[in-house]
Amino acid sequence: MGTVEKVFCRILLTLLLLQCEIGWMQEAVNSPAFIESTCLSSIFWMKLDKSFLQEKFFTIEVIDPSGVPFLVDQMLGARCGYTLSKDVWGNPIFRASFLGCHVINEKDEQFSLTVNIKVSLFEDLKAATVYQHPMHCSYFSWAPREILCEENYMEVSVKTDVPGISDAELMSALPEAQKVMYQMWNLMFYSSSGIKTTGVRDADKLGYSFNNTLARVFLRSPYFTNETQNTVVNGVTMSTISSTSRYRQRWLLLLIDTTVSCPVDGTSFTDASLIWTIPMINPRLVLQESTFRSLKVTMGINGKKIENPEKFNYTLEHNITHIGVTIPIGAPRGRLQSTVSNGVYGVTYSIDLLMEHSWTDSDWQLTKYLVIKPITIPFLPRIPIVINNTVPETRIFDVFLGVFLPDVNLVTLTIGDMTFSLKEAEQKGYRISVISFPNGTRGFELEVPFDDPNVLKEYMNINETRYHLQVIYTLTVGPEEKLYHHPADVECIMADVQLPEGIGYCDKENIYLYVTTAGLFQYWILYIGNSPLNYITAHTNRYRITTNDTHLLLQVPFFAPGIIYEEVSFERIQARFDLDLKKMATLETLNTFSVRCNFQSSEFIVCYPNGTVTVLAHMKTVPSIDMGKTRLKDKICKPREYTKNQALFQFQVSTCGTSLMFNDEHLIYENEISFEKETLPIQNRPIITRDPGYRLTILCYYPIKDTLMQSAMLYGSSSRTLPFGSGTMMSWPNSEGLIRTRQVLNIQANIFKDESFTEAYKSHSLVFKSLWEPLFFEVELKDEAPNVELFLENCWMTQSEEINSIPHWNFIVDGCENKSYGSVIFSPVTTSNPIKYPNHFKRMKIQNLTLPLTEIYLHCTATIGTCLHVPSSGLPCKLCPPGTIIDQYSEIYPNHHGYVVTGPVFILQPEQFEEFDITRNKV
Ligand SMILES: *[C@@H]1O[C@H](CO)[C@@H](O)[C@H](O)[C@H]1NC(C)=O
Ligand SMILES: *[C@@H]1O[C@H](CO)[C@@H](O)[C@H](O)[C@H]1NC(C)=O
Ligand SMILES: *[C@@H]1O[C@H](CO)[C@@H](O)[C@H](O)[C@H]1NC(C)=O
Ligand SMILES: *[C@@H]1O[C@H](CO)[C@@H](O)[C@H](O)[C@H]1NC(C)=O
Ligand SMILES: *[C@@H]1O[C@H](CO)[C@@H](O)[C@H](O)[C@H]1NC(C)=O
Ligand SMILES: *[C@@H]1O[C@H](CO)[C@@H](O)[C@H](O)[C@H]1NC(C)=O
Ligand SMILES: *[C@@H]1O[C@H](CO)[C@@H](O)[C@H](O)[C@H]1NC(C)=O
Repeated sequence: MGTVEKVFCRILLTLLLLQCEIGWMQEAVNSPAFIESTCLSSIFWMKLDKSFLQEKFFTIEVIDPSGVPFLVDQMLGARCGYTLSKDVWGNPIFRASFLGCHVINEKDEQFSLTVNIKVSLFEDLKAATVYQHPMHCSYFSWAPREILCEENYMEVSVKTDVPGISDAELMSALPEAQKVMYQMWNLMFYSSSGIKTTGVRDADKLGYSFNNTLARVFLRSPYFTNETQNTVVNGVTMSTISSTSRYRQRWLLLLIDTTVSCPVDGTSFTDASLIWTIPMINPRLVLQESTFRSLKVTMGINGKKIENPEKFNYTLEHNITHIGVTIPIGAPRGRLQSTVSNGVYGVTYSIDLLMEHSWTDSDWQLTKYLVIKPITIPFLPRIPIVINNTVPETRIFDVFLGVFLPDVNLVTLTIGDMTFSLKEAEQKGYRISVISFPNGTRGFELEVPFDDPNVLKEYMNINETRYHLQVIYTLTVGPEEKLYHHPADVECIMADVQLPEGIGYCDKENIYLYVTTAGLFQYWILYIGNSPLNYITAHTNRYRITTNDTHLLLQVPFFAPGIIYEEVSFERIQARFDLDLKKMATLETLNTFSVRCNFQSSEFIVCYPNGTVTVLAHMKTVPSIDMGKTRLKDKICKPREYTKNQALFQFQVSTCGTSLMFNDEHLIYENEISFEKETLPIQNRPIITRDPGYRLTILCYYPIKDTLMQSAMLYGSSSRTLPFGSGTMMSWPNSEGLIRTRQVLNIQANIFKDESFTEAYKSHSLVFKSLWEPLFFEVELKDEAPNVELFLENCWMTQSEEINSIPHWNFIVDGCENKSYGSVIFSPVTTSNPIKYPNHFKRMKIQNLTLPLTEIYLHCTATIGTCLHVPSSGLPCKLCPPGTIIDQYSEIYPNHHGYVVTGPVFILQPEQFEEFDITRNKV
């Protein structure tokens, strides 16, 4: 019932006008141009032009043969054989069966129906203009049985002079006695609830219309009455009213099968097409299937039969079970409309189909079966596509969005964060064009220059820019102008970035690098080793930076940090300076500007980041010494090369007796080049020498950023890489106050054999201890004034010699014994031979270690100061006696610290110890 109701609801219904009102209505206007009508089989088919009726109210009336108008409404329609509908374009349609209640029927051959269309601007149609439209059709080709399946009713009409029952007397009596006859018909309905027999008047009450014409009787039924039987025939649901019409008059009994059956579904669709099928044979209408013969199948659209459906790409096919029509979605004469559903763009497609099937069988010579079927496919998503037509060389994004039906319009564009109307977009320099295709669809082409501020730009890889256009299209869709948004995301990568270039050269003292600055510090950053080049690093490394509009000039002195010494010999130094061009975002190195120069220098020191120190020492003494006999603190470290005047040393900061100390800013490694005077050992005589004294102190300073870093360096976890170091050299004879400027605390650590602290294990001798045996450990300060005191700051044990090895176990923390891993007790130191200044010693006994170690190194950091008597306390423990504070020699030795390591001490497990005990005596 739903579809039938819907059709009617579209039509404005008004109350049936009273007959008497006709009198004072306006004169009817005959057959105006907005009305078109045709005859199709046994139907009047009238179409009203929608554009004429827009924003107007109208009703349709039919005029009965005596001139009385009847308003066509839903009730009247199904009863009298009228259909009010709309075609796919929205034009109102009125259809009437030739057997309709108010049709003037002349001998079942000429049919006339006059229609009044009342049109008004107001809902009250009293002052409406009445347009009168008479329709005349002839129909000579009645089949013995004709069935009409309309939208709102089913109708069957049959010829009464059916073969076999034909009777001359009856036939001659019929025309005269039409009205009388009508009264005499009975109807028998067969349904699941049994047989129901009614007279003609009662049939009317059940919702049926039954009447006869000159030579036919007909039954009209709405869909879904109480007697309706729904059956599925070959997959299609059929609505069937089974009935027999009976005419009885004394000696005559006329029984006519007035069964009518119409399909109520049978439509299906895919993305591409809609399919409508009906069964070829309906068993309710064809009782002896073996005699069935299909004669002709015709299809039609919009009330017009189509002889060559293939021409329009419609397919009409039939086989022994089905008749099917396939219509490609979008095919002509249907209506494709745009719409938006749940934010998705799509289309609906509607088409008004009809099908006529003629067949013969043994019961009925000929049956004409006409089905009228408007079909609408509710919603088919049609996701629009974005086509990237960009030609990179033009540097203009060219983006197509489509395809849409012509009922779609572009209204705004959001590019980046900005929303523009089409006019504003044009003013901004974006080009928008509507592309119309021959098949009636359209698309929108948008052009946006790469360099537009609303295009995102990103520097990529080495020399590429990624241009990224983000657009949101806003369109209005369909007759309702629903808003639809569609994004487009297009990008283009162009190798259009010019990397900075660098040119280098040298003079006698500096290396220079000229670098182009376009894009520098925006995309790229310059690095020397691990440090970025900026004004701060330049300043600390003694570089000079000058810039102009296009270039940056970097001046690097030959001995500044960052110089790589590729070859060092007496003849020349080959130095290289590398400036890395890195990507700002990832710090990936894209290019290295490298300058290589040779230069000469008679004396230099280079402290490499890997801890290598290279020193070229120049002989300065008179008389001259043999430079080949110079050495470092550890006598085994001799010059790598030497001449009469120069000696070249190269060593690691961890070797050759180099000592380490640190202050808040630097790790300081110190070594010394000295010369062993050649002595003439004359028996028991004082030693005589001709050689002058030669001492050259070498200092390498490695900056440490802050105390955090310092403790990290000391207590582990930091990497071993040092920053660039800077070196100085000082020769002693030439430098009077050197002792004051020295920054190295010369401290030494020893392990003693017993509590008397008299006999120390010699360096390089193996020390074995059991876990419970005490360790006697001493730290001695050397080369300092008598009144200064040595203070231990932190001492710790590790399994390796490295300063920062982990794990580590503290046994002195801020000068105090930490007894977490064993017993630690300071031992007093008194003046005795060879101890001249007890202040310069710290001794302790370490016992009962509970460490999981087999090999122990002892590390200590130390500082010096004097203890001043001051009333207030709050002192770090052990550094000074109670009531005194430490006066660090801050003026003379700013932040003066020292570091020492000794070991290893091998720890024997009990079972090993016994085994070893035997062998030890042998050693
Ligand atoms: C259809 O059947 C129902 C219930 O059986 C009844 O109430 C109703 O009146 C019937 N309708 C007609 C039109 O006879
Ligand atoms: C039957 O048809 C006749 C002749 O057209 C008409 O006068 C009569 O009113 C009709 N009866 C019904 C119930 O429609
Ligand atoms: C029928 O379909 C063909 C191929 O798909 C197409 O080229 C032709 O234009 C269509 N004809 C009509 C009338 O739409
Ligand atoms: C006849 O056509 C229908 C659909 O058009 C199809 O489903 C059916 O299988 C066909 N029957 C035969 C016997 O080919
Ligand atoms: C119409 O033409 C366009 C462009 O050739 C095509 O993309 C689209 O699919 C066509 N649409 C229909 C319904 O044929
Ligand atoms: C960009 O860099 C690539 C790879 O390094 C190189 O092959 C290409 O020639 C460069 N293009 C331009 C325009 O510089
Ligand atoms: C758009 O087209 C350009 C040029 O053909 C191409 O370089 C780019 O990768 C395309 N971008 C996208 C997102 O398809």
